[in-house]
Amino acid sequence: MNSTPESGLPRVTQQSNAFRPEATEAAEVPSQKERLSLHVLPPLPYELGALEPVISANTLSYHYGKHHRAYVDKLNELVQGTEFADLTLEALVLRTAGKPEHQQIFNNAAQAWNHTFYWHCLVPRSTEAIPATLARKINDSFGDVANFKREFAKAANEQFASGWAWLVSDGSGLHILKTGNGDDPLPKHLRPLLTIDVWEHAYYLDYQNRRPDYVQAVIERLLNWEFAAANLGT
Ligand code: FE2
Repeated sequence: MNSTPESGLPRVTQQSNAFRPEATEAAEVPSQKERLSLHVLPPLPYELGALEPVISANTLSYHYGKHHRAYVDKLNELVQGTEFADLTLEALVLRTAGKPEHQQIFNNAAQAWNHTFYWHCLVPRSTEAIPATLARKINDSFGDVANFKREFAKAANEQFASGWAWLVSDGSGLHILKTGNGDDPLPKHLRPLLTIDVWEHAYYLDYQNRRPDYVQAVIERLLNWEFAAANLGT
């Protein structure tokens, strides 16, 4: 596992079994417009209605087709002809994090990455079966799966205004993190395993202001444990 010299924490890199949005992008046949762009909107890993009744096709249509697409399109507009034009999405996030002069590029790059990651964190007909390696780490870090779910929901519900809740690995244990706006764990050199989008656009059409109901339904019925386990990189 690669690590940063300053922290010793794992760096999220091009591991074959870890999540890499560029790999997803490469599988898509781009349109003519997209061939002229560095970044493309990756395909959803399921149909728009596949997550119903927890997340409606209407919500997913707007969330993926409008919001996610807007981040990708804006990013291409911002980086065209700049020193950032040839960087991957992940490299853009790492290069622009914490730099106020590049805040707009960071916001759109991070949101493009976060959303692709989020789509893969969800799966129709989630099961209770958690791969053994991940289950062991959850038990070691949170006591048991039920307590992990409570802590994950608490972070998602307590994130003030727009943001994300994350399950991350620091290379030894698992932790729960909440981030505001487009911030994500990559610049902290933490490895994301799962996330829940708690921007209002993720749930308002279906749940209005009842964020806890959305969070609870996602945790109980949609989490992709196989994807989370693969992101451990072990
Ligand atoms: Fe979102």
